[in-house]
Amino acid sequence: MKRGVKVPSLERETKWHFVPKVKKGDKVTGGDIIGTVQETNLVEHKILVPPGISGEVKEVVAEGDYTVSDTILTLQSSGEEKELSMMHRWPARIPRPFKDKLEPREPLITGTRVLDAIFPMAKGGTAAIPGPFGSGKTVTLQSLTKWSEAKIVIYIGCGERGNEMTDTLTNFPKLKDPWTGRPVLERTILIANTSNMPVAAREASIYVGMTLAEYFRDQGYDTLLVADSTSRWAEALRDLGGRMEEMPAEEGYPSYLASRLAEYYERAGRVLTIGRPERFGSVTIASAVSPPGGDFTEPVTSITLRFVRVFWPLDVSLAQARHYPAINWIQGYSAYVDLVSEWWTKNVDPNWREYRDFMVRTLLREDELRQIVRLVGPESLSERDKLVLEVARIIKDAFLKQSAYDDVDAFSSPQKQVRIMRLIYLFNNWASELVGSGVQVRKIIERVTYLGDLMRAKSTIKNDELQKFDELEGKLKSLFDELKKGGVNLMQVAGIREYSNVNSIKGPLMVVQGVTDASYNEIVEVELGNGDRRTGLVVDSGMGVAIVQVFEGTSGISPRGTKVRFLGRGLEVKVSEEMLGRIFDPLGNPLDNGPRVIGGEKRNINGEPLNPAVREYPEEFIQTGISAIDGLNSLLRGQKLPIFSGSGYLRIS
Ligand SMILES: Nc1ncnc2c1ncn2[C@@H]1O[C@H](COP(=O)(O)OP(=O)(O)OP(=O)(O)O)[C@@H](O)[C@H]1O
Ligand SMILES: [Mg+2]
Repeated sequence: MKRGVKVPSLERETKWHFVPKVKKGDKVTGGDIIGTVQETNLVEHKILVPPGISGEVKEVVAEGDYTVSDTILTLQSSGEEKELSMMHRWPARIPRPFKDKLEPREPLITGTRVLDAIFPMAKGGTAAIPGPFGSGKTVTLQSLTKWSEAKIVIYIGCGERGNEMTDTLTNFPKLKDPWTGRPVLERTILIANTSNMPVAAREASIYVGMTLAEYFRDQGYDTLLVADSTSRWAEALRDLGGRMEEMPAEEGYPSYLASRLAEYYERAGRVLTIGRPERFGSVTIASAVSPPGGDFTEPVTSITLRFVRVFWPLDVSLAQARHYPAINWIQGYSAYVDLVSEWWTKNVDPNWREYRDFMVRTLLREDELRQIVRLVGPESLSERDKLVLEVARIIKDAFLKQSAYDDVDAFSSPQKQVRIMRLIYLFNNWASELVGSGVQVRKIIERVTYLGDLMRAKSTIKNDELQKFDELEGKLKSLFDELKKGGVNLMQVAGIREYSNVNSIKGPLMVVQGVTDASYNEIVEVELGNGDRRTGLVVDSGMGVAIVQVFEGTSGISPRGTKVRFLGRGLEVKVSEEMLGRIFDPLGNPLDNGPRVIGGEKRNINGEPLNPAVREYPEEFIQTGISAIDGLNSLLRGQKLPIFSGSGYLRIS
């Protein structure tokens, strides 16, 4: 092709098979469907009366083959005759009219798990994917283009690399739409505007894409508009503004950048279209934003964030760790979670919301725990916390990570997504039960050999083989049942180790030799030769020796014939609402002849570490009624007050 060649954007020679839907004498107005053309196997193109035109049908052609410029209908409109063809023109900058804008109601299923489950999109919604260089914006948008459950997809390559566009053009014809089994190209429009083309065309490409999206919306279809990247468009505005010597605003962008972006995102939405028969359509927008240096506070990103309701931020450290899609699950958000929950629970699984919230909760808790570990080290974590870390790892590997290049994994049907979520959820429930009865997390992970199957399920189990999830769930369940019953050597699983080489006894202390794996504060069960049992605590260990303090005292214990069991957990006490007014010994046993504490839960007496980041400064004053304290050394709620005194002085109690 030479420079300056002009071609009409719609080919004028091809004949299309037109089926009229109106007859002579019918009154029609803008938006009415006057006929249809089966454009591809997937899309029935509805021929509309252009907005703003109305009248009475004077003549309409018979069903048959016509070109887009042939007259197919003549209208009598207030004394004038108007001829309509199958195409009409629309100014790209002006939004096409509609009757009413409605709240989005259905999710736009994308087949990308982290998007559908954690930050869901709705048909008619708006999303931005900001991400630094090479973090996966293009790959994510292309996944959306390929797999989204939209009737029409419009992909705008705006100022990005030409080879990406070529890739798309060569790959798309080979791809099958998972919803219909037809080639995806039958429902896709590509608008190519690569980085080497004039910058003014970037703006045009955005508006043209938007107008096409609205045009199909008006036919009653759900359309998805994907733009990569709106930053290039903003840069074009900056460039042109500069040349026209406009007053630059923040970072050289023109002052109308915000209103341009707002106008763009405002054209999204689910609408009741104009014209008859009554129909609904939607335009959903997903745009990449490329902040230089990954700085989300730069103007284009920060302005975009004001207008979108779904935020899929890409994270450079996740991308470097090859965790794709690199969407940051802490920073991202979606305003449509409540809205789409209803759809999921009705159409896919009644427990969807429960599974989703469990995953989000676990991921947030993991983030908190990581901060604690950074501050005070991993030793501070309880077994429950360790389980959270493990489950978060499973969520990330088995669910969030998804390869766009794996044939099976690239698209996850809603049913498959829920099955993976359910397995992780059940694993967590079953494992917590074991942890509650003293089994170490490390042991559970070692024992549950099907964990690998769970991690790989996303790429080994196809969308149409869901019965394999039943099998996997069955296997997991029976394994956990066995572990619970203690059938699989629970002693070892529980981290219980038994020793009988008591070396010496000194006061309340007992020295046990040959112990290499005792940990400080670990609880110990001492079984005497006569079968009596006592409880102890490891107060020191090292050099193959453990020093155990026996709570009930050591009298009557002889080094011979005594068995010492290290239980692999700290001292726990039952807590419940039946405790007030009672008297207990330091192990929690009643001293008042009352019953043992029955309900409630077991708590480790060493407590759980507080997250220093969420600790607030104590501020509330506690009145003691003792003026020396209240007036001089006020006591605060949540604060510590030591009392010093020499022996024999009057103590305050
Ligand atoms: N979902 C994914 N699955 C597998 N690989 C991925 C995925 N997402 C991104 N990648 C990898 O990351 C690379 C860079 O991704 P991509 O080109 O989409 O980044 P980008 O953010 O568009 O970069 P740029 O800012 O240069 O446009 C890809 O070539 C691919 O190797
Ligand atoms: Mg890119």
